[in-house]
Amino acid sequence: MRAGVLSGGGDSPGINAALRSIVRFGAKHGVEVVGFLEGWRGPLENLVRPLSMSDVSGILQVGGTILGTSRTNPFRIDGGAERVLENLKRNKLDFLIAIGGDDTMGVAHRLAGKGLNVVGIPQTIDNDIAMTDYSLGFSSALEAVTDAMDRLHTTAASHNRVLILEVMGRDAGWLSLMGGVAGGADVILVPEKRFSVDAIYRRIQQREAQKKHFSIIIVAEGSRPEGCDDQVVAEAEVDAFGHARLGGIGQYLANELSDRMHVPVRVTNLAYLQRGGSPAPFDRILATRFGAAAIEFALERKFDVMTALQGIRIMPVPLGEALAKPRPIEDWLFYLIDLFE
Ligand code: F6P
Repeated sequence: MRAGVLSGGGDSPGINAALRSIVRFGAKHGVEVVGFLEGWRGPLENLVRPLSMSDVSGILQVGGTILGTSRTNPFRIDGGAERVLENLKRNKLDFLIAIGGDDTMGVAHRLAGKGLNVVGIPQTIDNDIAMTDYSLGFSSALEAVTDAMDRLHTTAASHNRVLILEVMGRDAGWLSLMGGVAGGADVILVPEKRFSVDAIYRRIQQREAQKKHFSIIIVAEGSRPEGCDDQVVAEAEVDAFGHARLGGIGQYLANELSDRMHVPVRVTNLAYLQRGGSPAPFDRILATRFGAAAIEFALERKFDVMTALQGIRIMPVPLGEALAKPRPIEDWLFYLIDLFE
């Protein structure tokens, strides 16, 4: 048998570990693997390379993706979907494994509707894919966020400062909420819950009254103040999936707070530092299990599904169901935001 694999969308630590698992577990079951380069651009332009055991040797602990990635959307290109299907056929593939977030797997699902045998692996630091407890990459990004929080703490405490950490996540606040809890943030802001600058200011004053002369605020890039529908964007231009690049809410908040406090409030935008680097142990294990499960599901002819972690098991869940709605933080978890206020 012959399988293809690609990684699309924003990268995250753990993709290489999944590729290694696909190739190794595939070999064990007589499946030869080829890799398509740069997301859906690979099958669109037939950018393909063999993936042998030696190609995936030594990459378990390496972040990013040896295949490269892109946000190419073949459905936005005239005849794009047909070209992808033709190239996959030309490579004599029995099935394809698509590693990525909702955009990458959304394309996979639409192509499954046109007859493609495809299995998805959910991978995004945003952790916003439904029906899986964790997406690949989230745990590693969370580790980077927690480390940044720890570092900000020591300098904030030394200088008696209010510091803001802006983290990614698009419309989901998982990184901010869990990073805030793990890093002991004094204020946690997420896109799922509008914030009030006055309430944050009161919280800082309350800490002052308790002789805590510094505060750390963690804010997800997609967060918005009360009464505001628009997210702050770094670039107005949208990508091939219709997303603008978010960024800047931390600075907005710093300006608002500085006006009230009459002292500078400083911002750190963690940006790509939270997405790069080596995968955490949890992601190495998840990637290894997801990769092997993707091969296993394909051999059982379970297609148009993604590998999902449900409890401690990896299950095949229909892509259509998983992608039907996003996965924001569930309301019952909001208690973690103001647990100690
Ligand atoms: O979806 C993953 C993600 O890292 C988001 O958290 C973030 O908003 C976006 O990608 C950044 O995109 P880009 O890589 O285009 O800057």
